[in-house]
Amino acid sequence: MRWGTVMVASGCGGTGRELAPYADLDGLDLVTRSITLDPRAGGPTPRIAETPSGLVHAVGHQNPGLEHFLATELPWLVRAGVRVHVSVVGATIGEYAELARRLSRAPGVAGLEVNLGAPDQAGEGLFEVREPYHAASVVAAVRREFPADRPVLAKLRPDLSRAVEGARAVHDAGASGVVLGDAVPAAMPDGRPGGLTGPAITPVALRCVHEVTSALPDVEVVGGGGVDGPRTARAFLAAGAVGVQVGTALLHDPTTVARIRAALTDDHVDDTAGDTADDREDHR
Ligand SMILES: Cc1cc2nc3c(=O)[nH]c(=O)nc-3n(C[C@H](O)[C@H](O)[C@H](O)COP(=O)(O)O)c2cc1C
Repeated sequence: MRWGTVMVASGCGGTGRELAPYADLDGLDLVTRSITLDPRAGGPTPRIAETPSGLVHAVGHQNPGLEHFLATELPWLVRAGVRVHVSVVGATIGEYAELARRLSRAPGVAGLEVNLGAPDQAGEGLFEVREPYHAASVVAAVRREFPADRPVLAKLRPDLSRAVEGARAVHDAGASGVVLGDAVPAAMPDGRPGGLTGPAITPVALRCVHEVTSALPDVEVVGGGGVDGPRTARAFLAAGAVGVQVGTALLHDPTTVARIRAALTDDHVDDTAGDTADDREDHR
């Protein structure tokens, strides 16, 4: 992955159309909401609650299912020039593999993101990734079905105590990189299980990124969790991430990705002002 890549985090860019008035979609790296084989209606409302420094959400992986996604959402995104990374989640390892197999044939899929953070304790009926070897088994099954020249990112659950172990396991299983900074397990105000996102989780996510990049310098890490502008994006990059994902901030300000991209491009131009072409490569 190119250094400084800024991606729309899964579930936070809608179908992509919602972002069109605010961002140049051409060349935008967008991770779709997690797609399952069959449609899912999602959890009961309300699904989002504000907290002092973030959101708690309990969307329940609402999505139209693979067939509908392939027939309607994907072609629109591809026509708009979006680099589409499809997030996949399944009830079994077989379902993950089936999603990868069918998406490998769909024109315009730039890569996959394997959602390994789906909490079964939320009663979602999805494959529960409790141990690093569960994550590795899913990634290996997906990797077998998806062309080697296209990336498969593994999005790990935000478990600081297992971050390095998890990253090593999925890397060895063939993941092109890991995404760190998924929602932290939390509760909705009425006690339903949910995920905490936004600025509240940045310090935890940064720590995960630091630990993984220090222990496993060969593993590409994409960091996320409360990225809301150039300053937080730079903090993740300084921690060793190669790119960042932006989620919750888009709900307040849909231009956030464009702003961060512009700022990082300016940084790069400043940094490399007097460099030769070879020097510029070294900055990446
Ligand atoms: C409303 C909402 C829906 C989300 N849906 C998904 C999803 O379908 N799949 C997934 O892997 N992550 C999902 N996430 C998690 C985000 O992709 C991201 O990892 C998390 O929100 C942390 O980043 P942030 O603090 O920038 O939001 C969702 C987050 C929110 C707020």
